[in-house]
Amino acid sequence: MAANIPLNPDAEDGGNELRRALGPVHLIALGIGAIIGAGIFVSTGQAAANYAGPAVMFSYLVAGFGCLLAGLCYAEFSAMIPVAGSAYSYTFATLGKFFAWIIGWDLILEYLAAGSAVAVGWAGYFNGLLADFGIILPENLSKSPVTMGADHVLSLSGAVINLPAACLVLLLTVLLVIGIRASATFNGIMVLLKLIVVLLVIGFGLQFVTMDNLTPFVPPNLGSFGEFGWSGVLRASGVVFFAYIGFDSVSVAAQEAKNPQRNMPIGILGSLAICTVLYVLMCIVMTGVTNYTTLDVPMPVAVAVEAMGPSFGWLKIMVDLGATLGLGTVVLVLLLGQSRIFYAMSRDGMMPPVFKKVHPQFRTPYISTIAIGGFAALLSAFLPHDLLIELVSIGTLAAFVLVCVSVMVLRKTHPNVHRPFRTPMVPIVPIAGILVCGAMMAGLPLDTWIRLAVWFAIGMAVYFLYARKHAKIPAYALKR
Ligand code: ALA
Repeated sequence: MAANIPLNPDAEDGGNELRRALGPVHLIALGIGAIIGAGIFVSTGQAAANYAGPAVMFSYLVAGFGCLLAGLCYAEFSAMIPVAGSAYSYTFATLGKFFAWIIGWDLILEYLAAGSAVAVGWAGYFNGLLADFGIILPENLSKSPVTMGADHVLSLSGAVINLPAACLVLLLTVLLVIGIRASATFNGIMVLLKLIVVLLVIGFGLQFVTMDNLTPFVPPNLGSFGEFGWSGVLRASGVVFFAYIGFDSVSVAAQEAKNPQRNMPIGILGSLAICTVLYVLMCIVMTGVTNYTTLDVPMPVAVAVEAMGPSFGWLKIMVDLGATLGLGTVVLVLLLGQSRIFYAMSRDGMMPPVFKKVHPQFRTPYISTIAIGGFAALLSAFLPHDLLIELVSIGTLAAFVLVCVSVMVLRKTHPNVHRPFRTPMVPIVPIAGILVCGAMMAGLPLDTWIRLAVWFAIGMAVYFLYARKHAKIPAYALKR
């Protein structure tokens, strides 16, 4: 995601020279900070309980492999075309405005739904944290009014609004408008806190894992695609794929990396490898200390810790606290990234010019930030976590597939452009990326596909009514 390029509204084409200061350790820390969030803290439980059982750890391995392949393709682009706007800008620079629009529209969905999804995940742990201190919020004001069953049928939960999630998004939007961003030190502390919590849960939890809970490891399929069995493992990989989103912030930092050819793969592979190991161990602990059927709750890690016994009350409080703080910063990063994409699209004429307006005092793209924040607050107030997660996953996977395609196209159309980082083994890596990400997309339920199709249908209408006429070729586009 584009979350780590400093947005400089004065640099129209992103041509500002950034200092090459990031070494491999910085890059790995950057990746881990952006990656660990609601995915491991919330989706693991839902994916295990509804689709994969204890085999959800295999789903994490498949999703991590897909990210690795796409990440290597991202890195080539981000080193070659270092501008704010991520995959959207790469596509505009290489494949032209139509494909850029498709990716940009797709990324809007991704960031919007991701920010909202993490906010809903955050609210689960926030409610838990309040409960640790004896404060219980009324249920009808702290839960989504809509729920999604394992069969994907939507129903009403009886609640009215998820107020904590919506308030978090609105509060962070205000912070972004007035230009407050998490400092590097603050980010560092949050990353450390998240890591400590995850390591404590793994460290203490492994001794409580029983074979009883892990058997059957791959629960038998219940008769339809995706409901347990191996198809369930594939479906769950599309869901937990969400947990890896954010690793691309490493590739976005390419222009700030020392020796990108060497350090980018280390940063991408390193953060993905570390997160994969942590995720797999977390899966073993979560599905090993309690039966997977108990994990379909807003705060499954806390449920797993509770199952370890009453002497771990302190660890539950740490989990609730670590998740509340850690997930809050992920929402901030996602909202920031989204406002940049919107800004970049408006700068290129794809969106009305009002969205590139910069606040005279705060120097932030405040209209796009408010528009995104308002919409994300609505989504988080009324929609459930699992529905949002699946939307994000399918949207991001689609973007990854397009980035893999673009790398191959560009090697043919622009073989001589300087590439500070080259994806290894082209076309094998991009083709494998397309296949693995495509398989994960195929594993997602039909209604998620329908939601994606509706989003694109609206996008096409906006493109033909507005964007096509107003888009102008950006200065960073490669000559054809
Ligand atoms: N990977 C991030 C998360 O899990 C988006 O919250």
